[in-house]
Amino acid sequence: MNILLLGSGGREHAMAWKIAQSPKVSNLYIAPGNAGTSSVGTNLAIAADNFPAIKDAVKSYAIDMVVVGPEDPLVKGVVDFFEADTELCKIPVVGPNKIAAQLEGSKDFSKQFMVRNNIPTARYQSVTIDTIEEGVAFLKTLEAPYVLKADGLAAGKGVLIINDLEEAVSELKSMLQGKFGAAGNTVVIEEFLLGIECSVFVITDGKHYQILPEAKDYKRIGEGDKGLNTGGMGAVSPVPFADAEFMKKVEDRIIRPTVEGLDKEGIVYKGFIFFGLIKVKNEPVVIEYNARMGDPETEVVMLRLKSDLVELLEGVAAGNLDEKTVEFDSRSAVTVMLVSGGYPEDYEKGKIITGLDQVEGSIAFHAGTKDADGNVVTNGGRVIAVSSYGASKDEALAQSFANAQKISYEGKYFRRDIGFDL
Ligand code: AMP
Ligand code: GLY
Repeated sequence: MNILLLGSGGREHAMAWKIAQSPKVSNLYIAPGNAGTSSVGTNLAIAADNFPAIKDAVKSYAIDMVVVGPEDPLVKGVVDFFEADTELCKIPVVGPNKIAAQLEGSKDFSKQFMVRNNIPTARYQSVTIDTIEEGVAFLKTLEAPYVLKADGLAAGKGVLIINDLEEAVSELKSMLQGKFGAAGNTVVIEEFLLGIECSVFVITDGKHYQILPEAKDYKRIGEGDKGLNTGGMGAVSPVPFADAEFMKKVEDRIIRPTVEGLDKEGIVYKGFIFFGLIKVKNEPVVIEYNARMGDPETEVVMLRLKSDLVELLEGVAAGNLDEKTVEFDSRSAVTVMLVSGGYPEDYEKGKIITGLDQVEGSIAFHAGTKDADGNVVTNGGRVIAVSSYGASKDEALAQSFANAQKISYEGKYFRRDIGFDL
Protein backbone atom coordinates (compact mmCIF):
# COMPACT_ATOMS: atom_id res chain seq x y z
CA MET A 1 0.00 0.00 0.00
CA ASN A 2 0.95 3.65 -0.42
CA ILE A 3 0.94 5.80 2.71
CA LEU A 4 1.06 9.59 3.05
CA LEU A 5 2.27 10.89 6.42
CA LEU A 6 1.62 14.55 7.28
CA GLY A 7 4.14 16.54 9.32
CA SER A 8 7.78 17.52 9.47
CA GLY A 9 9.20 16.90 12.94
CA GLY A 10 11.08 14.27 14.90
CA ARG A 11 7.77 12.53 15.59
CA GLU A 12 7.17 12.17 11.87
CA HIS A 13 10.71 10.94 11.15
CA ALA A 14 10.25 8.28 13.85
CA MET A 15 6.83 7.26 12.50
CA ALA A 16 8.16 7.21 8.94
CA TRP A 17 11.12 5.06 10.05
CA LYS A 18 8.70 2.58 11.64
CA ILE A 19 6.16 2.60 8.77
CA ALA A 20 8.94 2.05 6.23
CA GLN A 21 9.88 -1.20 7.99
CA SER A 22 6.50 -2.73 7.25
CA PRO A 23 6.38 -5.30 4.45
CA LYS A 24 2.90 -3.96 3.69
CA VAL A 25 4.20 -0.61 2.43
CA SER A 26 5.12 -0.07 -1.22
CA ASN A 27 5.60 3.70 -1.11
CA LEU A 28 5.78 6.14 1.78
CA TYR A 29 5.37 9.86 1.20
CA ILE A 30 5.84 12.55 3.81
CA ALA A 31 4.38 16.06 3.46
CA PRO A 32 6.38 18.16 3.95
CA GLY A 33 8.90 16.00 5.85
CA ASN A 34 12.50 17.00 6.58
CA ALA A 35 16.04 15.97 5.65
CA GLY A 36 15.64 12.80 7.72
CA THR A 37 12.30 11.58 6.40
CA SER A 38 13.69 11.64 2.87
CA SER A 39 15.99 8.75 3.84
CA VAL A 40 13.00 6.47 4.51
CA GLY A 41 10.43 7.83 2.05
CA THR A 42 9.72 10.55 -0.48
CA ASN A 43 9.15 14.10 0.72
CA LEU A 44 6.42 16.15 -0.95
CA ALA A 45 6.73 19.95 -0.70
CA ILE A 46 3.22 20.40 0.67
CA ALA A 47 2.31 22.00 4.00
CA ALA A 48 0.55 19.60 6.37
CA ASP A 49 -2.51 21.89 6.48
CA ASN A 50 -2.81 22.64 2.75
CA PHE A 51 -5.82 20.39 2.20
CA PRO A 52 -6.36 21.03 -1.55
CA ALA A 53 -2.69 20.24 -2.26
CA ILE A 54 -2.94 17.11 -0.10
CA LYS A 55 -5.95 16.04 -2.15
CA ASP A 56 -3.96 16.43 -5.38
CA ALA A 57 -1.10 14.37 -3.92
CA VAL A 58 -3.46 11.61 -2.76
CA LYS A 59 -4.75 11.31 -6.32
CA SER A 60 -1.39 11.62 -8.11
CA TYR A 61 0.42 9.11 -5.91
CA ALA A 62 -2.48 6.67 -5.50
CA ILE A 63 -2.38 6.99 -1.72
CA ASP A 64 -4.27 4.29 0.19
CA MET A 65 -4.02 5.77 3.67
CA VAL A 66 -3.16 9.12 5.27
CA VAL A 67 -1.56 9.32 8.72
CA VAL A 68 -1.60 12.67 10.52
CA GLY A 69 1.36 13.57 12.76
CA PRO A 70 0.70 17.04 14.24
CA GLU A 71 -2.44 18.53 15.82
CA ASP A 72 -2.82 21.47 13.48
CA PRO A 73 -4.34 19.66 10.47
CA LEU A 74 -6.57 17.66 12.84
CA VAL A 75 -7.94 20.69 14.65
CA LYS A 76 -8.42 22.39 11.25
CA GLY A 77 -10.48 19.39 10.11
CA VAL A 78 -8.38 17.33 7.69
CA VAL A 79 -10.44 14.23 8.51
CA ASP A 80 -13.72 16.07 7.86
CA PHE A 81 -12.26 17.45 4.61
CA PHE A 82 -11.62 13.89 3.37
CA GLU A 83 -15.02 12.63 4.52
CA ALA A 84 -16.86 15.44 2.74
CA ASP A 85 -15.04 14.93 -0.58
CA THR A 86 -16.57 12.42 -2.99
CA GLU A 87 -13.15 11.51 -4.40
CA LEU A 88 -11.42 11.14 -1.03
CA CYS A 89 -14.09 9.75 1.27
CA LYS A 90 -12.97 6.14 0.84
CA ILE A 91 -9.35 6.90 1.78
CA PRO A 92 -8.84 6.30 5.50
CA VAL A 93 -7.21 9.10 7.48
CA VAL A 94 -5.69 8.04 10.79
CA GLY A 95 -6.49 10.88 13.16
CA PRO A 96 -9.54 12.22 14.98
CA ASN A 97 -12.06 14.44 13.20
CA LYS A 98 -12.44 18.12 14.03
CA ILE A 99 -14.84 17.61 16.92
CA ALA A 100 -12.84 14.74 18.43
CA ALA A 101 -9.62 16.77 18.10
CA GLN A 102 -11.22 19.31 20.46
CA LEU A 103 -9.93 17.02 23.22
CA GLU A 104 -6.68 18.84 22.49
CA GLY A 105 -7.98 21.95 20.70
CA SER A 106 -10.10 23.16 23.62
CA LYS A 107 -9.08 22.69 27.24
CA ASP A 108 -12.62 23.64 28.30
CA PHE A 109 -14.07 20.91 26.03
CA SER A 110 -11.66 18.33 27.44
CA LYS A 111 -12.36 19.30 31.06
CA GLN A 112 -16.12 19.07 30.50
CA PHE A 113 -15.65 15.69 28.83
CA MET A 114 -13.63 14.38 31.78
CA VAL A 115 -16.15 15.62 34.32
CA ARG A 116 -19.05 14.02 32.38
CA ASN A 117 -17.17 10.73 32.23
CA ASN A 118 -15.80 10.71 35.79
CA ILE A 119 -12.20 10.78 34.61
CA PRO A 120 -9.84 12.06 37.32
CA THR A 121 -8.56 15.57 36.59
CA ALA A 122 -7.74 18.76 38.51
CA ARG A 123 -10.65 20.82 39.86
CA TYR A 124 -11.32 23.75 37.53
CA GLN A 125 -13.45 26.62 36.41
CA SER A 126 -13.69 28.08 32.90
CA VAL A 127 -14.16 31.81 32.54
CA THR A 128 -14.65 34.41 29.81
CA ILE A 129 -14.40 38.19 29.92
CA ASP A 130 -18.04 38.29 31.09
CA THR A 131 -17.47 35.95 34.04
CA ILE A 132 -14.10 37.25 35.15
CA GLU A 133 -15.36 38.02 38.66
CA GLU A 134 -16.36 34.38 39.14
CA GLY A 135 -12.88 33.45 38.01
CA VAL A 136 -11.30 35.74 40.58
CA ALA A 137 -13.57 34.27 43.27
CA PHE A 138 -12.53 30.73 42.23
CA LEU A 139 -8.84 31.68 42.31
CA LYS A 140 -9.34 32.84 45.91
CA THR A 141 -10.61 29.38 46.88
CA LEU A 142 -7.38 27.77 45.60
CA GLU A 143 -3.96 27.60 47.15
CA ALA A 144 -0.85 28.81 45.35
CA PRO A 145 0.50 28.13 42.82
CA TYR A 146 -2.32 29.02 40.41
CA VAL A 147 -2.71 27.36 37.02
CA LEU A 148 -4.17 29.38 34.13
CA LYS A 149 -4.69 27.78 30.72
CA ALA A 150 -5.73 29.40 27.47
CA ASP A 151 -8.58 27.28 26.14
CA GLY A 152 -7.32 27.03 22.55
CA LEU A 153 -4.05 26.01 20.89
CA ALA A 154 -1.30 28.44 21.84
CA ALA A 155 1.81 26.73 20.46
CA GLY A 156 2.54 25.11 23.83
CA LYS A 157 2.77 28.51 25.56
CA GLY A 158 -0.79 28.86 26.83
CA VAL A 159 -0.28 27.46 30.34
CA LEU A 160 0.85 29.76 33.15
CA ILE A 161 1.74 28.62 36.66
CA ILE A 162 1.84 31.59 39.01
CA ASN A 163 2.80 31.75 42.67
CA ASP A 164 1.15 35.01 43.64
CA LEU A 165 -2.63 35.55 43.77
CA GLU A 166 -2.52 39.18 42.65
CA GLU A 167 -0.32 38.30 39.73
CA ALA A 168 -2.64 35.42 38.82
CA VAL A 169 -5.62 37.80 38.78
CA SER A 170 -3.76 40.25 36.58
CA GLU A 171 -2.60 37.47 34.20
CA LEU A 172 -6.14 36.15 34.03
CA LYS A 173 -7.27 39.59 32.89
CA SER A 174 -4.55 39.93 30.30
CA MET A 175 -5.26 36.45 28.92
CA LEU A 176 -8.95 37.30 28.58
CA GLN A 177 -7.97 40.57 26.93
CA GLY A 178 -6.05 38.81 24.19
CA LYS A 179 -2.54 37.98 25.47
CA PHE A 180 -2.75 34.66 23.57
CA GLY A 181 -5.16 35.91 20.92
CA ALA A 182 -8.47 34.11 20.47
CA ALA A 183 -7.01 31.00 22.17
CA GLY A 184 -7.47 32.88 25.46
CA ASN A 185 -11.09 34.00 24.94
CA THR A 186 -11.88 31.31 27.47
CA VAL A 187 -9.42 30.55 30.27
CA VAL A 188 -9.42 27.39 32.35
CA ILE A 189 -8.37 28.02 35.95
CA GLU A 190 -7.13 24.86 37.60
CA GLU A 191 -6.09 23.53 40.96
CA PHE A 192 -2.33 22.85 41.00
CA LEU A 193 -1.36 19.20 41.26
CA LEU A 194 1.94 18.09 42.72
CA GLY A 195 3.44 14.91 41.33
CA ILE A 196 5.53 13.30 38.64
CA GLU A 197 4.33 13.35 35.03
CA CYS A 198 4.31 10.74 32.31
CA SER A 199 2.77 10.32 28.87
CA VAL A 200 0.61 7.35 27.97
CA PHE A 201 -0.42 6.64 24.37
CA VAL A 202 -3.16 4.59 22.83
CA ILE A 203 -4.25 3.92 19.30
CA THR A 204 -8.01 3.56 18.86
CA ASP A 205 -10.48 2.72 16.11
CA GLY A 206 -13.24 4.44 18.07
CA LYS A 207 -14.44 1.29 19.85
CA HIS A 208 -11.30 -0.68 20.67
CA TYR A 209 -7.86 0.47 21.72
CA GLN A 210 -4.35 -0.82 22.11
CA ILE A 211 -1.93 0.67 24.62
CA LEU A 212 1.49 1.70 23.30
CA PRO A 213 4.69 2.05 25.36
CA GLU A 214 4.58 4.93 27.86
CA ALA A 215 7.25 7.63 28.07
CA LYS A 216 8.51 10.47 30.21
CA ASP A 217 9.25 13.77 28.54
CA TYR A 218 11.59 16.53 29.78
CA LYS A 219 9.88 19.83 29.06
CA ARG A 220 12.15 22.56 30.39
CA ILE A 221 15.13 23.97 28.52
CA GLY A 222 17.54 23.82 31.46
CA GLU A 223 19.10 20.98 33.38
CA GLY A 224 17.37 20.18 36.67
CA ASP A 225 14.12 20.97 34.83
CA LYS A 226 14.63 24.73 35.08
CA GLY A 227 13.87 27.57 32.72
CA LEU A 228 11.39 28.00 29.91
CA ASN A 229 9.08 25.30 28.62
CA THR A 230 9.99 23.72 25.31
CA GLY A 231 8.31 21.18 23.05
CA GLY A 232 10.38 18.54 24.87
CA MET A 233 14.14 18.08 25.34
CA GLY A 234 14.29 14.32 25.64
CA ALA A 235 12.30 11.24 26.57
CA VAL A 236 12.68 7.88 28.23
CA SER A 237 10.67 4.66 27.97
CA PRO A 238 9.80 2.61 29.96
CA VAL A 239 8.95 4.85 32.92
CA PRO A 240 9.83 2.95 36.10
CA PHE A 241 7.03 4.44 38.22
CA ALA A 242 4.43 3.51 35.60
CA ASP A 243 4.46 -0.10 36.80
CA ALA A 244 1.76 -2.70 36.17
CA GLU A 245 -0.32 -1.57 39.15
CA PHE A 246 -0.22 2.09 38.08
CA MET A 247 -0.94 1.22 34.44
CA LYS A 248 -3.94 -0.86 35.49
CA LYS A 249 -5.37 2.19 37.25
CA VAL A 250 -4.64 4.27 34.15
CA GLU A 251 -6.46 1.79 31.94
CA ASP A 252 -9.45 1.30 34.27
CA ARG A 253 -9.98 4.91 35.33
CA ILE A 254 -8.72 6.87 32.34
CA ILE A 255 -8.17 5.02 29.06
CA ARG A 256 -11.30 2.83 28.98
CA PRO A 257 -13.63 5.60 30.24
CA THR A 258 -12.18 7.96 27.62
CA VAL A 259 -12.66 5.62 24.66
CA GLU A 260 -16.09 4.49 25.90
CA GLY A 261 -17.10 8.06 26.70
CA LEU A 262 -16.20 9.28 23.22
CA ASP A 263 -18.12 6.42 21.63
CA LYS A 264 -21.15 6.90 23.91
CA GLU A 265 -21.24 10.61 23.13
CA GLY A 266 -21.09 9.94 19.39
CA ILE A 267 -17.64 11.51 19.01
CA VAL A 268 -15.87 9.50 16.33
CA TYR A 269 -12.21 9.18 17.32
CA LYS A 270 -9.90 7.12 15.11
CA GLY A 271 -6.25 7.71 15.78
CA PHE A 272 -3.79 8.25 18.59
CA ILE A 273 -4.74 9.60 22.01
CA PHE A 274 -1.97 11.07 24.15
CA PHE A 275 -2.79 11.12 27.86
CA GLY A 276 -0.66 13.65 29.73
CA LEU A 277 -0.79 12.23 33.26
CA ILE A 278 0.48 13.18 36.67
CA LYS A 279 0.89 10.71 39.51
CA VAL A 280 -0.50 12.30 42.65
CA LYS A 281 0.01 10.15 45.78
CA ASN A 282 0.19 7.02 43.59
CA GLU A 283 -3.03 7.84 41.71
CA PRO A 284 -3.08 8.85 38.03
CA VAL A 285 -4.75 12.17 37.16
CA VAL A 286 -5.16 13.64 33.66
CA ILE A 287 -3.35 16.93 33.06
CA GLU A 288 -4.27 17.08 29.39
CA TYR A 289 -5.24 15.14 26.31
CA ASN A 290 -3.53 15.52 22.97
CA ALA A 291 -5.08 14.27 19.75
CA ARG A 292 -1.78 12.94 18.37
CA MET A 293 1.44 11.29 19.43
CA GLY A 294 3.95 13.23 21.54
CA ASP A 295 7.18 14.71 20.30
CA PRO A 296 9.83 13.64 21.40
CA GLU A 297 7.97 10.72 23.04
CA THR A 298 7.32 9.12 19.63
CA GLU A 299 11.08 8.89 19.10
CA VAL A 300 11.19 6.37 21.96
CA VAL A 301 7.72 4.82 21.57
CA MET A 302 8.49 3.75 17.98
CA LEU A 303 11.75 2.17 19.14
CA ARG A 304 9.90 0.11 21.75
CA LEU A 305 6.99 -0.88 19.51
CA LYS A 306 7.91 -4.30 18.17
CA SER A 307 4.68 -4.87 16.26
CA ASP A 308 4.10 -3.65 12.73
CA LEU A 309 2.70 -0.11 13.02
CA VAL A 310 0.97 -0.44 9.65
CA GLU A 311 -1.01 -3.44 10.96
CA LEU A 312 -2.28 -1.21 13.75
CA LEU A 313 -3.07 1.65 11.36
CA GLU A 314 -5.05 -0.81 9.24
CA GLY A 315 -6.88 -1.90 12.38
CA VAL A 316 -7.89 1.73 12.97
CA ALA A 317 -9.19 2.03 9.41
CA ALA A 318 -11.05 -1.30 9.48
CA GLY A 319 -12.39 -0.98 13.04
CA ASN A 320 -10.82 -4.26 14.16
CA LEU A 321 -8.01 -3.09 16.41
CA ASP A 322 -9.18 -5.67 18.96
CA GLU A 323 -7.87 -8.38 16.63
CA LYS A 324 -4.38 -6.86 16.57
CA THR A 325 -1.63 -7.35 19.10
CA VAL A 326 0.92 -4.92 20.40
CA GLU A 327 4.30 -6.24 21.46
CA PHE A 328 6.83 -4.07 23.29
CA ASP A 329 10.61 -4.34 23.01
CA SER A 330 11.87 -5.12 26.52
CA ARG A 331 14.90 -2.86 26.09
CA SER A 332 15.00 0.74 27.29
CA ALA A 333 14.80 3.51 24.74
CA VAL A 334 15.82 7.12 25.23
CA THR A 335 16.08 10.21 23.08
CA VAL A 336 18.16 13.33 23.65
CA MET A 337 17.10 16.40 21.70
CA LEU A 338 19.74 18.65 20.15
CA VAL A 339 18.32 22.16 19.84
CA SER A 340 19.27 25.50 18.30
CA GLY A 341 21.05 28.12 20.43
CA GLY A 342 18.44 30.48 21.87
CA TYR A 343 15.53 28.03 21.65
CA PRO A 344 12.74 28.21 22.91
CA GLU A 345 13.13 31.94 22.35
CA ASP A 346 14.56 33.41 19.13
CA TYR A 347 17.08 31.28 17.30
CA GLU A 348 18.73 31.21 13.88
CA LYS A 349 18.15 28.63 11.19
CA GLY A 350 20.27 27.42 8.30
CA LYS A 351 23.33 26.25 10.28
CA ILE A 352 25.19 23.43 8.53
CA ILE A 353 24.99 20.14 10.45
CA THR A 354 28.00 17.83 10.33
CA GLY A 355 28.84 14.49 11.90
CA LEU A 356 25.54 12.74 11.18
CA ASP A 357 27.49 10.08 9.29
CA GLN A 358 29.59 9.46 12.42
CA VAL A 359 26.59 8.38 14.50
CA GLU A 360 26.93 4.74 15.50
CA GLY A 361 24.54 2.68 17.59
CA SER A 362 21.89 5.43 17.79
CA ILE A 363 19.27 6.66 15.36
CA ALA A 364 19.42 10.38 14.62
CA PHE A 365 15.78 11.28 14.03
CA HIS A 366 15.60 14.66 12.33
CA ALA A 367 13.29 17.19 14.00
CA GLY A 368 14.04 20.56 12.41
CA THR A 369 16.32 20.02 9.42
CA LYS A 370 16.25 20.48 5.67
CA ASP A 371 18.43 19.78 2.69
CA ALA A 372 20.13 22.87 1.27
CA ASP A 373 22.61 22.70 -1.61
CA GLY A 374 23.87 19.26 -0.64
CA ASN A 375 24.09 20.08 3.08
CA VAL A 376 21.75 19.23 5.91
CA VAL A 377 20.98 22.48 7.74
CA THR A 378 19.04 23.40 10.87
CA ASN A 379 15.46 24.44 10.20
CA GLY A 380 13.81 24.67 13.61
CA GLY A 381 14.32 25.01 17.36
CA ARG A 382 14.51 21.29 17.91
CA VAL A 383 17.00 19.87 15.42
CA ILE A 384 17.97 16.20 15.96
CA ALA A 385 16.60 13.60 18.40
CA VAL A 386 19.45 11.19 19.15
CA SER A 387 17.63 7.99 20.03
CA SER A 388 19.07 4.76 21.41
CA TYR A 389 18.25 1.37 22.82
CA GLY A 390 19.99 -0.06 25.86
CA ALA A 391 19.78 -3.03 28.19
CA SER A 392 19.15 -0.32 30.79
CA LYS A 393 18.10 3.32 30.60
CA ASP A 394 21.64 4.34 31.60
CA GLU A 395 23.20 2.29 28.84
CA ALA A 396 20.84 3.84 26.29
CA LEU A 397 21.59 7.34 27.62
CA ALA A 398 25.36 6.81 27.44
CA GLN A 399 24.92 5.84 23.81
CA SER A 400 22.79 8.90 22.98
CA PHE A 401 25.12 11.30 24.81
CA ALA A 402 28.17 9.86 23.02
CA ASN A 403 26.53 10.29 19.63
CA ALA A 404 25.18 13.75 20.57
CA GLN A 405 28.85 14.85 20.86
CA LYS A 406 29.59 13.72 17.31
CA ILE A 407 26.96 15.91 15.69
CA SER A 408 27.95 19.56 15.27
CA TYR A 409 26.36 22.83 14.24
CA GLU A 410 26.74 26.38 15.47
CA GLY A 411 24.78 26.93 18.68
CA LYS A 412 24.09 23.25 19.45
CA TYR A 413 22.67 22.68 22.93
CA PHE A 414 21.25 19.65 24.71
CA ARG A 415 20.37 18.66 28.25
CA ARG A 416 22.86 16.27 29.79
CA ASP A 417 20.49 15.17 32.55
CA ILE A 418 17.73 13.43 30.58
CA GLY A 419 16.49 10.43 32.56
CA PHE A 420 18.66 11.15 35.61
CA ASP A 421 15.68 11.55 37.93
CA LEU A 422 14.23 8.12 37.15
P1 AMP B 1 -0.67 21.35 29.50
O1 AMP B 1 -0.44 22.15 28.26
O2 AMP B 1 -2.07 21.33 29.97
O3 AMP B 1 -0.04 19.97 29.39
O4 AMP B 1 0.23 22.02 30.62
C1 AMP B 1 1.62 22.19 30.43
C2 AMP B 1 2.37 21.78 31.67
O5 AMP B 1 1.92 22.57 32.77
C3 AMP B 1 2.11 20.33 32.09
O6 AMP B 1 2.93 19.43 31.45
C4 AMP B 1 2.39 20.42 33.57
O7 AMP B 1 3.78 20.34 33.82
C5 AMP B 1 1.91 21.78 33.95
N1 AMP B 1 0.54 21.72 34.46
C6 AMP B 1 -0.60 21.84 33.75
N2 AMP B 1 -1.68 21.73 34.53
C7 AMP B 1 -1.23 21.53 35.79
C8 AMP B 1 -1.85 21.34 37.07
N3 AMP B 1 -3.17 21.37 37.21
N4 AMP B 1 -1.06 21.14 38.12
C9 AMP B 1 0.29 21.14 38.00
N5 AMP B 1 0.95 21.32 36.84
C10 AMP B 1 0.20 21.52 35.75
N1 GLY C 1 6.20 16.33 24.27
C1 GLY C 1 4.92 16.87 24.54
C2 GLY C 1 4.05 17.01 23.39
O1 GLY C 1 4.24 16.44 22.33
O2 GLY C 1 3.05 17.72 23.53
